[in-house]
Amino acid sequence: MPGIVILGAQWGDEGKGKVVDHLAASADVVVRYQGGNNAGHTLVVGGQKTVLHLVPSGILHPKTRCLVGPGVVLDPAVLAREVKALEARGLLDLRNPGERLVVSQHAALILDVHRELDQAREAVAGGRIGTTGRGIGPAYEDVAGRRSVPARALKDPEDLRARIAAILPEKNALLAHYGRPTMTVEQLMAPLLEAAPAIVPLLGKVGPLVEAALDRDETVLFEGAQGTLLDVLHGTVPYVTSSHTTTGAVCTGTGIGPGRLGRIVGLAKAYVTRVGGGPLPTAIGGELEDRIRAIGQEFGATTGRPRRCGWLDLAALRYAVRLNGITELAVTKLDVLTGIGPLRVCVGYRRADGSETEEMPIFPEELETSAPIYRTVAGWDEPIHLARRFEDLPRSVHEYLELIADVAGAPVTIVGVGPDREATLVRARG
Ligand code: IMP
Repeated sequence: MPGIVILGAQWGDEGKGKVVDHLAASADVVVRYQGGNNAGHTLVVGGQKTVLHLVPSGILHPKTRCLVGPGVVLDPAVLAREVKALEARGLLDLRNPGERLVVSQHAALILDVHRELDQAREAVAGGRIGTTGRGIGPAYEDVAGRRSVPARALKDPEDLRARIAAILPEKNALLAHYGRPTMTVEQLMAPLLEAAPAIVPLLGKVGPLVEAALDRDETVLFEGAQGTLLDVLHGTVPYVTSSHTTTGAVCTGTGIGPGRLGRIVGLAKAYVTRVGGGPLPTAIGGELEDRIRAIGQEFGATTGRPRRCGWLDLAALRYAVRLNGITELAVTKLDVLTGIGPLRVCVGYRRADGSETEEMPIFPEELETSAPIYRTVAGWDEPIHLARRFEDLPRSVHEYLELIADVAGAPVTIVGVGPDREATLVRARG
């Protein structure tokens, strides 16, 4: 059976964790393939909140094996903390950790100096991009620069020390350039040596494990982080993250071929949100935006920053469907729009020269001079958070979903109507 990809079709924070958690109930393997601890999933199970930044959401299902691919950048201290917290909750047995969680030995480490550089650059630029400050960009720069420190170096402190000593002088020159204190090799080593005992037993080769699971006909889910519009090349550059967030990254970030993929599920919130810098053309503004932010609890799981909220952008979604080869859509947080009144939906853009386009113009220069074309739909007042089947949803919700499928160009097969595990509804196939 081919693998199932679940990725964000907007600017991240589409509620991937919850949908992955739902599908993981019948999955054998869940794989993360890009990003790092700039992501964060808040899962509510039995009223208990769990926030995960690196470990795939599937870990909450006792039979699911979780893998972290070589395309992920790893902050060892964060991973060690998650591993210990999961152990304390009885979700990971540290006597046999690799049984449930395997981390690629090739994944690049995020060092403290990456975080320093990330924050220094943001400070100089006045927070222009609004990164999460977790060192993600500088760590990926080192991957592209062929000088990153792979996770397997944690097995051998001397190797680790030599690799760090080789790259630190250049980093210190950069820190000095930004007026920041320079760092020593031992300073960078300390957190790594502390985290290593929790991580080394997890290290392995992720690509072959995925191939073997697919060969055994197991169900493998690939869990994306961030979203399509934050892709380093295809997103709203420069206001993006530093990894590819689109479907191709599943293959490169895991180490498997494209023939291994089947369903590509694109996640979209029933509205849009954005955290950090960059354009949000359908921003709602005013009191209504504040209301949606409060109802939807739109604050970053990683940084706690308030997210900007906008009307659903179907022109952006159409772009995401085409770019990723999305075969079906999951629409989350529909319940947040209950009682909001007439809803506006962006169905295209009008450029400065008066021409219209059905897809969001992606370059900032073009996007900033284009205006969303809206359609207004009725909305609904009925509470929908207790719905447990598609058929339970009111007519006006179905109409909203039909509009999404029509304009974006892919069927809606999953919807989220509330924070509980049971509030994810799957359309019956057939
Ligand atoms: P970085 O990934 O920390 O370098 O941040 C680059 C941009 O991506 C910033 O605008 C962040 O707010 C955004 N970003 C990174 N990770 C996430 C995420 O998981 N959800 C939403 N936005 C994110």
